[in-house]
Amino acid sequence: MKDSGSESLKRTLGPSQLVALGIGAIIGAGLFSLTGIAASQNAGPAVVLSFVIAAVGCAFAGLCYSEFATMIPIAGSAYTYAYATMGELIAWMIGWDLVLEYAVGAATVGVSWSKYVMSFFADFGIAFPQQLAASPFEPVRLPETGQLIEGVINLPAFFIVAMISLLLIIGIQESARINAAIVVMKVAVVLVFIALGWAYIDPNNFTPFIPPNTGETGAFGWTGVLKGAGIVFFAFIGFDAVSTAAQEAKNPQKDMPIGIIGSLAVCTVLYVLFSHVLTGIVNYTELNSAAPVAVAIDRTDYRWLRPALKLAIIAGYTSVILVMLLGQSRVFFSMSRDGLLPKLFSDVHPKYRTPWRSNLLFMVLTGLIAAFAPIGLLGEMTSIGTLFAFVLVCGGILIMRRTHPDLKRPFRTPWVPLIPLLGIAFNLVLMYYLGWSNWIRLIVWMGIGMAIYFGYSRKHSITRNS
Ligand code: ALA
Repeated sequence: MKDSGSESLKRTLGPSQLVALGIGAIIGAGLFSLTGIAASQNAGPAVVLSFVIAAVGCAFAGLCYSEFATMIPIAGSAYTYAYATMGELIAWMIGWDLVLEYAVGAATVGVSWSKYVMSFFADFGIAFPQQLAASPFEPVRLPETGQLIEGVINLPAFFIVAMISLLLIIGIQESARINAAIVVMKVAVVLVFIALGWAYIDPNNFTPFIPPNTGETGAFGWTGVLKGAGIVFFAFIGFDAVSTAAQEAKNPQKDMPIGIIGSLAVCTVLYVLFSHVLTGIVNYTELNSAAPVAVAIDRTDYRWLRPALKLAIIAGYTSVILVMLLGQSRVFFSMSRDGLLPKLFSDVHPKYRTPWRSNLLFMVLTGLIAAFAPIGLLGEMTSIGTLFAFVLVCGGILIMRRTHPDLKRPFRTPWVPLIPLLGIAFNLVLMYYLGWSNWIRLIVWMGIGMAIYFGYSRKHSITRNS
């Protein structure tokens, strides 16, 4: 395995920028769209517990990520860690799987971004043709006639993916600065919502706290809380993207755990408070909306804040897409340096020093997925792919402690093997609740990956052929 270009990429990021990078990747469509859906369909006011359960699973994985990130502070990602611990094949599997988390994740948020943009403009009476902001799998209702028609293409989603890809080509430092500004705005929205909304909480909305199960697994009751955790897990995806920037961190051994655990902790506190206020203002039965913040704010005296909140949420989504696309190009950068993918993924631009060809390719691929695929499917694929990567990372810590017990570990995951084992168990439970259709899609995706590995990567692997 090569140190993937620590000489070629600039080391510019400090600890606070890494925490900002994490928060920038984390708070997004999961919080602002899925909270209402999970509350109304699965968990009721106990969606707060769903957030806590998902956070605990992520925390176990985050501790394992931190140990790896400090032990192998090069092109840090689950891919690199797997390469060092479990060999090339498993590493390839993880790298391939991470496309679901990063590229498909970016497309998911791109689609949700387009929904908020449409809704923002609609508040001002500006109507954009709805068929041009929806995928062909998505029915849209024409405002004039009420007729249901199929979407054609989601142009705004393609647009945002293209814009951010171009931004990434210009360079990480510039991107990190814009990200920091957006993070401030995004956290401000959440804090304003919590602070202003608190006075409007109606305690009656918290009874029953866990609505009784309807007879169907995952529809309320404790199984509903668990299914809700599987859904809102999407809201935590992204903290591990911090580790993909290890090459650009000034002091990765000290700052990586701060970036990973710090951003996860901040978001967990915000999510619990946010979902408590949301389900306190609006009864869970009325929260089945892709924009629950707007529903809640309408119940207060701060209705006039609606456009500002939407605008900040739109900006907030932008930084999620940015970090996801950044992570994607960095993972493929490492895989290409190791010979498992063609060289085009590790070509660094002579002036900007970014993997620009890779960014361009993912601009087209991710943009097309965002333009043509339905959001529900994309979100669930992102979640199951990420959970799978977490399981493998937790497993990697167990293996590494046995095979390399004496390696220097600036950060040690506490209580090994308990924490990694709990990480594996928690994340497998969440995967279970995503249902068999997602398992099949994951298996098909991994099968395609295996075909590429045996058809191309093994023959070009630098380690194998040196
Ligand atoms: N955690 C990110 C979001 O909620 C992916 O949008």
